[in-house]
Amino acid sequence: MEEIKIVAESKEELYEQLLPQIYCVVADEPNPIANMANIVAALKQTFPYYSWVGFYWYEKKSNELVLGPFQGKIACTRIAVGKGVCGTAFQKKETLIVPDVNQFPGHIFCDGDSKSEIVVPIVDNGNIIGVLDVDSHEYSSFNKTDKTYLEQLIHNVSGKIILP
Ligand code: SME
Repeated sequence: MEEIKIVAESKEELYEQLLPQIYCVVADEPNPIANMANIVAALKQTFPYYSWVGFYWYEKKSNELVLGPFQGKIACTRIAVGKGVCGTAFQKKETLIVPDVNQFPGHIFCDGDSKSEIVVPIVDNGNIIGVLDVDSHEYSSFNKTDKTYLEQLIHNVSGKIILP
């Protein structure tokens, strides 16, 4: 059985120790859903300030983002492109850090206790195809460190999570 082992204190150390272990977990598994499921589980169990972490994937026919594997409370199934933090990050094709979700116009509350959020785009061959969304029950939980490591993570696992 595979196990994530972390003995870190700082945020940087947590990411530094976790990411290589995630790469090992997904390395030999070709199924993108299995890999996404383990990635969100590994993130959620490592970071105490993550209240929700999950994937949204773009669906062309509806022009919406559709919920993928996640850890946390039940969430919105669909988000229109350009709406909420996820739809805005997707449209802008850039990572968004929101220190106070109440200050983000059009923020979509899936969880009433959500206070801050980071959304990282997933790009394949220059095309945006989805996002990784992370919520916290505390204000200002996410900073440049989360952005750097989550972007690195998504970049390095993208080949292992893209749906056919
Ligand atoms: N808050 C997000 C919606 C997704 S949930 O947080 C899981 C948004 O505004 O896009």
